[in-house]
Amino acid sequence: MRVLSVGSEIYPLVKTGGLADVMGALPAALSSEGITVRSLVPGYPAVTAALDRAESVLRIPDLFGGAAEIRAAAAGRHDLFVLDAPHLYARPGNPYIASNGVDWSDNAQRFAALCRAGALLARGAVGGFVPDLLHAHDWQAGLVPAYLHYEGHAAPPCVFTVHNLAFQGWFPAHLLGALGLPASAFVIDGVEYFGGIGFLKAGLQFADAITTVSPRYATEIATQDGGMGLDGLLRKRGSAVHGILNGLDTATWNPATDEHLAARYDVANLAARAVNKRAVQARMGLAPDPRALLFGVVSRLAGQKGIDLIIEALPVLDALGAQLAVLGTGETGIEASLREAVAARPGRVAAIIGFEESLSHLIQGGADAILVPSRFEPCGLTQLAAQRYGAIPVVSLVGGLVDTVIDANPVAISAGVATGIQFGPVSEAGLSDGLRRAAALFADPDKWSRMQRNAMALDVSWTEPARNYAALYRSLTSR
Ligand code: ADP
Ligand code: GLC
Repeated sequence: MRVLSVGSEIYPLVKTGGLADVMGALPAALSSEGITVRSLVPGYPAVTAALDRAESVLRIPDLFGGAAEIRAAAAGRHDLFVLDAPHLYARPGNPYIASNGVDWSDNAQRFAALCRAGALLARGAVGGFVPDLLHAHDWQAGLVPAYLHYEGHAAPPCVFTVHNLAFQGWFPAHLLGALGLPASAFVIDGVEYFGGIGFLKAGLQFADAITTVSPRYATEIATQDGGMGLDGLLRKRGSAVHGILNGLDTATWNPATDEHLAARYDVANLAARAVNKRAVQARMGLAPDPRALLFGVVSRLAGQKGIDLIIEALPVLDALGAQLAVLGTGETGIEASLREAVAARPGRVAAIIGFEESLSHLIQGGADAILVPSRFEPCGLTQLAAQRYGAIPVVSLVGGLVDTVIDANPVAISAGVATGIQFGPVSEAGLSDGLRRAAALFADPDKWSRMQRNAMALDVSWTEPARNYAALYRSLTSR
């Protein structure tokens, strides 16, 4: 089976979060299922610079204000179609946001262009490549099934994956014609969404199947509390919605071979983690204390992630004699409050504001525990990496964090199966309780190392998720 995957990020070429990890890892996992994936991504500078070889396969004379071409290319292990449209993508830095911190004003056109290209490829516009199925990811690819629907030609079935319902790709109604959508699309059963055009809504409306990245999140988004305005549509589409857990790229995330670590290790050699802990402390300016419980955070700094709760809970951290190491980038308000926390607790709280792949691995390999106090979390990958690296995840009881961690409650401890700590409600009090539970377990080395070994033994790979995607694809293509 041949699949065209469409999305706006792909690891290792361009990444702001877990979407890139999934786009980057799922193709290889699906190849074990006999499925060949080609990924269509925008030709950002970081993408075009990384291509091993590229061949122009389709010229588009005018794509939203400029000439474009689709290039077939390879980059490392990826087979790509790259949408080369310099007027839309030849901009350095974050793919969505200009250097002044504001969304690019033409994001509607930039991602509609990606969807246009996706629709062309889906219909076999490039000789020799006719996909059996289309897999579109997140709002940036949401218009692909809408274009296919309104253009009315035969098209392969489409799976649309929601990685995060909070990013909805909403644009003003007056762009309808400019985006090449007919007036008839501006209805509730079309792309209309709260008086504008909803890219994510369009994907949910027109895809043959909808997936989201954990079973728990699939149920949460069908409720008014978790649906962010789309729960009605998601309930209506109920039988087409599937929750398929993310996996982790276990080749990239392997503590036995990870070149970003100061010391590599496996489950039989956990003591080597101490070397990584010291390296985190040294790199981040924390006191070189081997006994202090070191909490790590690797996160986008957004309201979703509950970083403000960590800042509120710092007095509890102090009382526990613990340390905190944060790596993150995002909203300026959260960045500023982290800087203040560092200034107020030198040597005990450290933050590096930035995106650093290498340090993200070192923190996983050196922190004793990883905090993920999200308000909502479609799946979450850092708690998967944490478990693979023997860092104990301390997570809120939401979304994929429910599905991927075994809480150290009394029965799980006595059964010897706990892998982490889950806390609720998602509040400063809930998190503080989780921090105290972590400290109590950390003080009991037998229990703690048992949890580390359990966590490292979990299968967090893409094997099972890929099987689930393959089964879904087959059910659609055999219809
Ligand atoms: P989300 O996609 O909501 O940001 P995930 O947990 O699914 O959350 O994925 C986040 C991914 O981005 C992980 O691979 C994580 O290691 C990485 N990441 C997040 N922030 C940073 C950062 N500042 N530096 C390096 N990697 C980061
Ligand atoms: C999103 C979600 C995260 C998920 C990732 C990959 O960004 O916030 O929970 O793991 O996508 O699916």
